[in-house]
Amino acid sequence: AASPAHPQDLAGRRIVVSAGGTREPLDPVRFLGNRSSGRQGVAIAEAAAARGAEVTLVAANLEVPDPGGCRVRAVSTALELRDAMTEAVAGADVVVMAAAVADYRPATVSEAKIKKVDGRDHMTLELVRNPDILAGLGASPHDGTLLVGFAAETEADPVRLLELGRAKRRAKGADLLVVNRVGWTQGFAADENAVTIIGPADEVVAEASGTKMSVAHGILDVVAARLPDGDEPDPTTKEP
Ligand code: CTP
Ligand code: CA
Repeated sequence: AASPAHPQDLAGRRIVVSAGGTREPLDPVRFLGNRSSGRQGVAIAEAAAARGAEVTLVAANLEVPDPGGCRVRAVSTALELRDAMTEAVAGADVVVMAAAVADYRPATVSEAKIKKVDGRDHMTLELVRNPDILAGLGASPHDGTLLVGFAAETEADPVRLLELGRAKRRAKGADLLVVNRVGWTQGFAADENAVTIIGPADEVVAEASGTKMSVAHGILDVVAARLPDGDEPDPTTKEP
């Protein structure tokens, strides 16, 4: 049912959102993880559904409840997230990569719990690169799919922060990139966020701040304005 509180400007659109943070196992009881709570991505999924979209949420270890009105695919590792995204993005109008994906995973996963060794005061973990999921989507044909990436940066200087975001958008082949400053107390678990959205010509398209839900709507305002008019016939081919 249409929510009167929101414009139904994403009605009929298929949107795939990844959220949360991946966990890369070391052994049956340990993993390498990150502090992403999934709040911002979940807010985007919930807001998109409220605006009429058909939403698939690829959820990595969320610390918040699943949003209502979305199809949820639970994953844990970066490789699982990649596989779930590959399946979910077929035919999508919009893909939002809000998940914090581990850049590296342990090279081997021990079948048994790793034991400490007496007399051994140092331990080195060997890690291997995970695939870059967003860059993979950006590099493969995605005609008709708007690709939205995020950049989590600790850079404090606002000018350099934007430069990092611009470089990341280009490197990933994303149409839009949401730059998000993160830190010990900023970005992750907080209910408030502040972002800048960079567009295809490296321009600042919009800024949004406030609750993660209001930031979500700010991001979706930009997305909705950039989607081709789905049902409108091309006026140049219209019969008189
Ligand atoms: N991302 C991804 N797959 C990865 C790593 C990141 O799809 N293996 C996506 C994230 O979901 C996000 C964007 O790429 O949308 C940027 O992630 P971020 O960690 O900020 O950038 P990286 O390219 O990994 O660069 P670095 O961490 O070295 O700054
Ligand atoms: Ca990274």
